[in-house]
Amino acid sequence: MSYIPDNERYENKTGYRRCGHSGIKLPEISLGLWHNFGGVDVLENGRAMLRCAFDQGITHFDLANNYGPPPGSAEENFGVIYKKDFLPFRDELIISTKAGYLMWPGPYGEWGSRKYLLSSLDQSLNRMGLDYVDIFYSHRPDPDTPLEETMMALDYAVRSGKALYAGISNYPAELTKKAAAILKQLGTPCLIHQPKYSMFERWVENGLLDVMEEEGIGVIAFSPLAQGLLTNRYLDGIPEGSRAAKSWGYLREDQVGPALVKVRQLNDIAKFRGQSLAQMAIAWLLKDQRVTSVLIGASSVAQLKDNLASASNLAFSEGELKNIEEILQS
Ligand SMILES: NC(=O)c1ccc[n+]([C@@H]2O[C@H](COP(=O)([O-])OP(=O)(O)OC[C@H]3O[C@@H](n4cnc5c(N)ncnc54)[C@H](OP(=O)(O)O)[C@@H]3O)[C@@H](O)[C@H]2O)c1
Repeated sequence: MSYIPDNERYENKTGYRRCGHSGIKLPEISLGLWHNFGGVDVLENGRAMLRCAFDQGITHFDLANNYGPPPGSAEENFGVIYKKDFLPFRDELIISTKAGYLMWPGPYGEWGSRKYLLSSLDQSLNRMGLDYVDIFYSHRPDPDTPLEETMMALDYAVRSGKALYAGISNYPAELTKKAAAILKQLGTPCLIHQPKYSMFERWVENGLLDVMEEEGIGVIAFSPLAQGLLTNRYLDGIPEGSRAAKSWGYLREDQVGPALVKVRQLNDIAKFRGQSLAQMAIAWLLKDQRVTSVLIGASSVAQLKDNLASASNLAFSEGELKNIEEILQS
């Protein structure tokens, strides 16, 4: 059936935050297609999640060349869904992709050379059936390629019209500063940085968030639910079909058990706040106005709806924050 999005999708269903010093606003929650949209997954399930997200005012979908498995298949599937459902709404969408991790054999299939980044962007556009992406990221810093070369490739992607904005991901604070300076000089400011950030992963608090504020770069936090640990998913064991149970998932079974003591304590606080743990974990990130968007994953429409409802309670009392901090530091 053809898709008719909710007419009221922009009526206070989600908040939008300005991305750094740019003209772009992103939804407080964005949807990532790393897992659950690949060739091994059920396409109609991914399609239902994308429709549900857009109906709720979620305008940002995040991809990368290697998402799948197999690598490339999330972009292919997104392309199929985009053509069926979202073609008329291209100008309402921020679609991002990245290049940095292994994509094809030989010396030009990964990292940060101009050769790899620009070839990969062409491949991504082909797979998705798009003329341009909104954001093109260098997915990870490359220790062997001059930073100037990587940033010049991002600048060229923008100048050639194949991307509207440039972003970086997984860059540490000092390198972010250098990258931002090079991009500024080239005339293509760094729009956004995509780091891993959750209650369980807080490296960005040691300098990176400050750099991004100083440089006027937006922040989009990935794996905000620690791949599902910061939810009720594993409270009663490892369910079949969960990320930790899958051979291709990036969450290992042996990471679940050690996290559970804290997860249960955090879950009690969430219950007290009248939220699910997933909602509280998202709200905890959004309490910092430097965070432009929280980039979630989901494997079902029900999970997505649960997460999108986080916005109804973003405020924390001093006491709640203190209790959460004590649990996280214990
Ligand atoms: N730049 C980078 O290097 C990088 C790296 C990783 C990810 N990312 C981006 O960040 C996005 C999100 O990453 P992520 O998938 O790891 O995020 P996440 O939100 O931390 O984890 C998503 C997983 O948590 C579980 N979940 C989500 N909502 C739930 C709920 N309400 N109740 C119970 N369980 C719930 C689901 O696991 P089940 O599948 O078990 O149901 C879901 O697949 C990716 O899609 C990608 O766009 C970027």
